[in-house]
Amino acid sequence: MAHETLRDVLAVLEQRGRLRRIAKPVDVGWEPACFVKWAFQAVPEPSRFGLWFENVAGHDMPVVTGALGCSTEAYAIALGVEPDDINAAWERALLKPIAPRTVASGICQETVLRDGRARLDRLPIPTWTPGKDIGPYLTTIVVTANAETRRQNMGFYRTRVRDAHSVVANLSPGRQGLLNARTWHDRGKPAPIAWVIGAPPLVTFAASANLPWGADEMEVAGGLQGKPIELVKAKTVDLLVPANAEIVIEGEVHPGEMDTEGPFGEFAGYMGPISQKPVARITAITHRKQPVYYGVASQMPPSESTIVQSLTNAGVLMKLLRHDLGEHTVADAFIDLNFGGLLAHAIVAMSPRYPGHAKKVGRMVADCTPIKRVTMVDPDIDIRDPLHVEWALNARYDPARDTVIIDDVFFPMGMDPSVRIKDGKTEQGSKVVIDATQSIDSGTFSLPPKDLMAKARASWQDAGLPAFDIPKRARLRIDKS
Ligand SMILES: Cc1cc2nc3c(=O)[nH]c(=O)nc-3n(C[C@H](O)[C@H](O)[C@H](O)COP(=O)(O)O)c2cc1C
Repeated sequence: MAHETLRDVLAVLEQRGRLRRIAKPVDVGWEPACFVKWAFQAVPEPSRFGLWFENVAGHDMPVVTGALGCSTEAYAIALGVEPDDINAAWERALLKPIAPRTVASGICQETVLRDGRARLDRLPIPTWTPGKDIGPYLTTIVVTANAETRRQNMGFYRTRVRDAHSVVANLSPGRQGLLNARTWHDRGKPAPIAWVIGAPPLVTFAASANLPWGADEMEVAGGLQGKPIELVKAKTVDLLVPANAEIVIEGEVHPGEMDTEGPFGEFAGYMGPISQKPVARITAITHRKQPVYYGVASQMPPSESTIVQSLTNAGVLMKLLRHDLGEHTVADAFIDLNFGGLLAHAIVAMSPRYPGHAKKVGRMVADCTPIKRVTMVDPDIDIRDPLHVEWALNARYDPARDTVIIDDVFFPMGMDPSVRIKDGKTEQGSKVVIDATQSIDSGTFSLPPKDLMAKARASWQDAGLPAFDIPKRARLRIDKS
């Protein structure tokens, strides 16, 4: 069963040792960011935990970070499924989205601060790359709407705190948030905008999904939940926001007003460039009583941001390949947890039906997503096990025969740090498809037959040797031996 609020999920994570409370006073200017960097840079994924800072100096609100995306297990808990069923849950939700339901009131509006009282310095907003960032920023869901259709969009767009009453939102070219803002500006009106902090986790995950233009992430979140997400009307702008969020900031993007965005630590592991981005004026802050400030950590990968986006977008990719492009021979997809989709490495398992089939599907993945490297393997490979994928690359892949280079690719936002910059402009990048599906019959595996291996396991136990779990890699191999 999917959990409906952030607090529900945090309680389960805490109970399972996947969330730790820090009671000592911390400085929001550096300690949450540096702690979460240690958690993701040093603590191995299976034992990693999120952080709940109970005592933030100068604030009465706690800060929580790194919890929902600390590991595949934590993400699966929040989604309400077993880790092996994450892709299937996404496929189901995308095939059967459920429209949100508007309700009269919500906990996110238990306290309403308008105009002069809506001060951003009331919130414990962390600085995420202390010592290098220009200042603090929100890493949270941004809600915008199309002025004509009123269809809403949600996406994560970093938002720099400029002063107590204004921000600079990283609405980048091509992003739906910017396209929506323009529909208001074209009519000479300010664009309504809202930031949702501590949304129901399914809403957070849906906002991180790369969905086609016009898709409403709130409907997908409803599909994940199996019932409508409850929304309330924002207090000062014409938008609907999740009723069960911790905090909502409301504002307006006025046409033509821009300011400096950056430098900030970026998801690819380097400091990003400075640019000019739209300014938004804050019109209200609403929150539940005793709210929790949830900040999604990004910057040097792996991070909560890359893990959430990788797990989400692998499910989106499965739906695209199997249901939109009709490639039902695709069995599974995985995106490496380091890069979150953009510039990442996808590994796709499929049963090719004809020569060149895997290359064709790999090209489609490269063309339809921001993924930079695509490796195609047979379904007898555990795509989440790097040892098994490496074996396929050694035993089934011939570089000259099985590589496709796709050149002159535009990467959104010019974010690829490996691409040369000439005259201040990012050059086009390239992508690679590696077909490591079996092209020739190489015979049988060099392992004893399955029945003998089973007999040997029993004999191993009789010999008093320590018990072991059979990894999926070994199971797949022994099944075919
Ligand atoms: C924590 C986090 C921070 C992000 N920051 C940005 C950002 O600043 N700018 C951006 O364009 N995408 C950012 N992304 C990625 C987008 O939110 C994501 O690709 C989303 O699908 C974009 O929505 P859209 O396709 O509706 O524009 C971020 C994702 C996460 C999880």
